[in-house]
Amino acid sequence: MLKLAVLVSGGGTNLQALLDQMEQNKLPSVKIEVVISNNKNAYALERARKYQVDAAAISKKDYATIEEFNVALLKLIDRYHVDLIVLAGCLMIIPECVIKNYRNRIINIHPSLIPSFCGMGYYGLKVHEAVLERGVKVTGATVHFVDEGTDTGPIILQKPVMVHEDDTAEILQRRVMEEAEWLLLPEAVRLIAEDQLIIDHNRVRIKK
Ligand code: GRF
Repeated sequence: MLKLAVLVSGGGTNLQALLDQMEQNKLPSVKIEVVISNNKNAYALERARKYQVDAAAISKKDYATIEEFNVALLKLIDRYHVDLIVLAGCLMIIPECVIKNYRNRIINIHPSLIPSFCGMGYYGLKVHEAVLERGVKVTGATVHFVDEGTDTGPIILQKPVMVHEDDTAEILQRRVMEEAEWLLLPEAVRLIAEDQLIIDHNRVRIKK
């Protein structure tokens, strides 16, 4: 059984994609142990509760220093003895102590084809606004392992999505979610649950 901690910050549609696939028994050897958000009002926490999944909020505002917050986040995750941390619409900076303790066991879904439109400042709608501003014809989404950088870890899966002439950032974001994010994230979790990934330096190979 692959046990997950899913870290969220907002609406939780990527979390919902995982929950839906689990409900359809498409991820039989996966269990979400906890959903953790830095935003106590995140609707993603409500989605977790509807499936009787532990939902926890943790905020930097409740700690005197960032170091204390980082240690508290690590302790919260450790309490659930998970195998994999999934960043699903997560805007938290993942502390180095978490990355070191969960080396190659943290994945993130990013709404562009990395290395385009990623890194500091590229999150949520801003990614799609930049895509439209640049006038690219193809965008997409990427699932990658998380390392100390921002969107720099080994790439696991990618999926292209066409940009339409009349797209707004909101319309494009929705299409990238529907056609790419909500498919890629569960597929990456399935591959890890079936031990199908090999990390070879900065490349990820799929065994079959
Ligand atoms: C969306 O912009 C999505 O593209 C990115 O994070 C944001 C919120 O996702 N991955 P979610 O609906 O909270 O999963």
